[in-house]
Amino acid sequence: MMITSLQMEPLRLSAFLCGLLFLSGVSGASSSMSFPDNPHYSVRVPEKLMPAEKFTPGIGENKEPSKSPILGYGGKMRTLCKFCDEQPTACNNSGSCWSLCDITSICPDVDEVCVTIWRKKDNNVTLDTLCHNPAERLHGLWLDDYNNSKCEMKEKKGQDSQFYMCSCSGDECNDHIFFSHDKVSKDFQVMFVILVSLVPLLVLALLVIISFYLYRVGRQRKLWDAKGKRGMASGRDFSDVHAIMLDDDHSDSSSTHANSLNHNTEPLPIELDAQVGKGRFAEVYKAKLKQGTSATGEPFQTVAIKIFSSEEYLSWKNEKDIFSDADLRHVNVLQFLTAEERKVDKQYWLITAYHPLGNLQEYLTHHVVSWGQLMMLGSSMAQGVAHLHSERTLDGRPKVPIAHRDLKSSNILVKDNLTCCLCDFGLGLRLDNTLSVDELANSGQVGTARYMAPEVLESRINLENTESFKQTDVYSMALVLWEITSRCDAVGEVKEYEPPFGKVREHPCVESMKDSVLRDRGRPEMPSSWFNHPGIQSVCGTIEECWDHDPEARLTAQCVAERFNDMEDLDKLSEHSVSQEKISEDCSVSDEK
Ligand code: ADE
Repeated sequence: MMITSLQMEPLRLSAFLCGLLFLSGVSGASSSMSFPDNPHYSVRVPEKLMPAEKFTPGIGENKEPSKSPILGYGGKMRTLCKFCDEQPTACNNSGSCWSLCDITSICPDVDEVCVTIWRKKDNNVTLDTLCHNPAERLHGLWLDDYNNSKCEMKEKKGQDSQFYMCSCSGDECNDHIFFSHDKVSKDFQVMFVILVSLVPLLVLALLVIISFYLYRVGRQRKLWDAKGKRGMASGRDFSDVHAIMLDDDHSDSSSTHANSLNHNTEPLPIELDAQVGKGRFAEVYKAKLKQGTSATGEPFQTVAIKIFSSEEYLSWKNEKDIFSDADLRHVNVLQFLTAEERKVDKQYWLITAYHPLGNLQEYLTHHVVSWGQLMMLGSSMAQGVAHLHSERTLDGRPKVPIAHRDLKSSNILVKDNLTCCLCDFGLGLRLDNTLSVDELANSGQVGTARYMAPEVLESRINLENTESFKQTDVYSMALVLWEITSRCDAVGEVKEYEPPFGKVREHPCVESMKDSVLRDRGRPEMPSSWFNHPGIQSVCGTIEECWDHDPEARLTAQCVAERFNDMEDLDKLSEHSVSQEKISEDCSVSDEK
C-alpha cells in the first residue's frame, strides 16, 4: 500500500496518516483514495504490491514486529518519494527545478530510494519520479549516488534519449532536482582539487627558480671578487674581466660562443673618451663603462670601444664571430667583452679590454727595450700566435685554429706587464672544415702589403692546406720580431724606430713589396753588430727561419714560443752561474781578508 500527498508534509504526519489508514482497515480497499479532511492527500497503491496482504498480519502468524506502512520489517523506515512515473515537464537540464509531481509514495521496500529521471526525446521533455532498490539496475544503470541527500542530476550516456538521472535517500528528496548548480559545484570541486594539488608543485618550482637565481647571483659575485682580486694582485686593471660577465658567465671552459652580442635591449652605459686608434675599418676609443667598479674603486670600468660604421658591418661581424669563440681566450689575445649593434647611431661596436700602453708600434717608437723586455714581448707574441693557430686549448680540448692574416706591430697591444696581446681580428679566418670554397677563394691576398709573405704577394698561397695560412702569419710575426729586436739595447747602437722595409712609403703597395720581397728576395737588415749578443744572435736565427721564402721551411709559432722558453731558461742559468761566480769571487775576497 502507498500513501500519497499533494503537498509535502513532515514525515511524521505521513506516517501518522498511513498508520491511521492501516488501523482503520482501509488497506487494500482501493488503489487510490482521497482524505476528506485534506483534499491534497491521496493514497496510491502501486500495482506490484498487494498492500492489504502485505501489511495485514495473518491471525496467529508470527510476522515481523513492525506492521506499519512506514516502518519496514526490522523497524527500518521506508522512504517517501515522489512517484509520478513519466510526465511532461518544463524543467530544462540546467539549474534546479521541482518535479511538480503531486503524488508522494511510501516506497514499498525498505531498501528503496527516490529516483528522478529527466529525458528529452524529439523535443519532448519528461520527468520520471519513482522508488527504486539500488541493488538492482534501473534502465541498465546502477544508482551510484543514492546515499546523497539531494537529487543531483548526472547525464547518462548510451540511452536512446538525452538522459539524466539522480537518486537520493531522504523523504521526497527527488522532488527538488539539481542540474547546473551541481555541475558548477562539481567543476569547482575538480578545479579546487587540481589547484590544491598544484600548489605544492608551484611552490616547489618557485623555490627552485629563486634558489637558482640566488646561486647565479652568488656565483657571479664570487667570480667578480676573485677576478677583481687577481687583477689587483697583478697590478693590472682587470675591469674588463668584470664586464665580460655582463652578457653571460662564460668562465666555463665548455662554452664555445661567449659574449658574442649584448642581448640586453638597452645598450651598455658607455661614455666615450679619447680616440686611441684608427684602422682600415674602424676607430678605437678609450671609454668608461659605467657599471660596477674598477679595481681602484672608481664607479666605472675603463674599456676600449672599436667602432665600425654600417659600411664595415662585415668586418665587425667577422671580428665579433672570431672573438665569440670562448676558446680564443688567452692572456696574449685581447680580452673581448661584448659586441653591440648601436642601431640608433648606425654603428657596430666591439667592447674590449683597454691597454693604456697602446700598440707595439707606438710603444717601440717611443721606447728602447732591454734584452729581458725583448724576451717578454717576443715570447708572449709567439705564445699568442701559437694559441691562435693551435688545434687544442690550454687544457687539451679541441679548438678551431684561427689564422690572423694581418699580423703587424700596430695590431699587437702592449699590456702593463710588457707582454703582448693580439688584436684586430677583422681579417681572421677560422680554419675549420666548414670553410667554403668562396671563403677560400677570397682568402688569397689579404692583409697589409708591408707584412705580406712572398706567397701572398704572389697570390700563390696553397689554399688546399690550411697550414699555409698559419705559415703566412709566421712570416709576418718574423717582421714584428725584427722590429722589437731593432729597438733592443742589446744590439749595440739603437736606431730610431723604423718599420720593416723602412719608410719607403707610409703604406707601400703590393707591387713595391713584390719588388723587394720577391724579385730581390729582400728582408729587413740585421747588422753584424746584432750578432755580438748571444741571445740576439739566437733571436736573429729564429727570425730568419720564420721569414724563409719557402713557407714549408718556416718554423711554427709553437716552435718559436718554445725557442723563447729555452732562451729564458738559458738566461736564468747564466744569471745563476754569474751570481755563483760572484759569490765565489766575494768569498775569495773575504778569504783573502
Ligand atoms: N688600440 C686599439 N685597441 C686598443 C685597446 N684595446 N687598448 C688600447 N689601445 C688600443
